[in-house]
Amino acid sequence: MEQDSNRLDNNTQLKQLAGKTAVDETVKSGMKLGLGTGSTAVHAVRRVGELLAQGVLRDICAFATSFQTEIECEKLKIPFYSLNSQELSSGLDLTIDGADEVDPKNRLIKGGGGAHLIEKLAAYASSVYVIIVDESKLTERLGGGFPVPVEVIPSARVQVTKGLEKLGANVILREAVRKAGPVITEHGNLILDIRFASMSADPSIMESEINQIPGVVENGFFTRNPPVVFIARSNKACSAGMIEKRLP
Ligand code: A5P
Repeated sequence: MEQDSNRLDNNTQLKQLAGKTAVDETVKSGMKLGLGTGSTAVHAVRRVGELLAQGVLRDICAFATSFQTEIECEKLKIPFYSLNSQELSSGLDLTIDGADEVDPKNRLIKGGGGAHLIEKLAAYASSVYVIIVDESKLTERLGGGFPVPVEVIPSARVQVTKGLEKLGANVILREAVRKAGPVITEHGNLILDIRFASMSADPSIMESEINQIPGVVENGFFTRNPPVVFIARSNKACSAGMIEKRLP
């Protein structure tokens, strides 16, 4: 039990380290900045808030990728805008986000928190894309451990399930916690979590093929704007851990 809580603390420390290092190295005043979602990305959001409050950073126009991140921005007084706004419609300079899996080519699975639709908008609208992870997110092959989320419009649930099964996927409707029935996304859609018995296909081909099924809104493969990945690794010599930066 004690060992478990030590592991948890250590994991949180690694996430914090990744978030702080990535912000300190990449965020500059005046940037149009995409802010990701999840328990790792929140540490980057908090570091941006801290540097704005200290006056170290100025004139940040942020884009929040979920309600969770919008609420964090509100608390920290980080000004955020719609991607359709005059402030952000020309695109983002940089996005910092977490991931569920990262392969050796820096391709990703995202969407464990159900925010991959807007996270992908930010990722593909960014000149520089940065991913922050602890070492547990690294994998040799995407889809081996974590399911790929597919957001679908509710009326296409059964048709899309059949289409995904034809691609060889095992499909599970994501169920909500503390609400009866399925997860409803921020856009009123459902999420199908899919696993492949053997994922032999190239993830970039899978990303396109899944999106071609009518009724699919977006899937959680991110292969088109390979990020710089900040990996926080635990290190016996240094209790705070260390960062490895992996270029695309
Ligand atoms: C949100 O939908 C996701 O894409 C997250 O960025 C991803 O699941 C990583 O989340 P954690 O940092 O909480 O593991």
